[in-house]
Amino acid sequence: MVAFSVSEKPMQATTLNVNGSAVSVTADADTPLLDVLRNHLGLVGTKFGCGAEQCGSCMVLVDGKPEKSCGTALSTMAGKAVLTIEGLGTPEHPHKLQQAFLDEQAGQCGYCLSGILISAKALLDKNPSPSRREIAAALDDNICRCGSHPRILRAIERAALSMREGAAR
Ligand code: FES
Ligand code: FES
Repeated sequence: MVAFSVSEKPMQATTLNVNGSAVSVTADADTPLLDVLRNHLGLVGTKFGCGAEQCGSCMVLVDGKPEKSCGTALSTMAGKAVLTIEGLGTPEHPHKLQQAFLDEQAGQCGYCLSGILISAKALLDKNPSPSRREIAAALDDNICRCGSHPRILRAIERAALSMREGAAR
């Protein structure tokens, strides 16, 4: 008799920090962080676009650096800190980036915007006064199919100015 074995991927419990809170997630080790955020934790602001690390709609910060969560395995996330769009601001207390995007009406369908806001946050955290060229370079990994780039660039410049003015007060 020939025995067939069905290989099952190992489940593992991984503890990470998401938007300031420790969470433990039990899932296959190779579960993409994007699935963890959306399906295990209900944080659906991070979007599934291509699923192939090409569009940037799934961008989150991992230990302060932008990462495409569709290509990041849960097994690499133990002890790391994740910031998603839900941790950036709230409707009542929007982050200055979010307010600037509203003021500039920087977006049409909005599908790309959570990823773009996360990339912009990473940029302004390390460079509070970026040139337009530096902003465009920071968004190299983010695709906007609606072609809202001019308003997105203006919104990030506006947010940077607002953050600098806030810091100067
Ligand atoms: S969904 Fe991750 S880069 Fe497109
Ligand atoms: S606003 Fe629609 S994809 Fe960017």
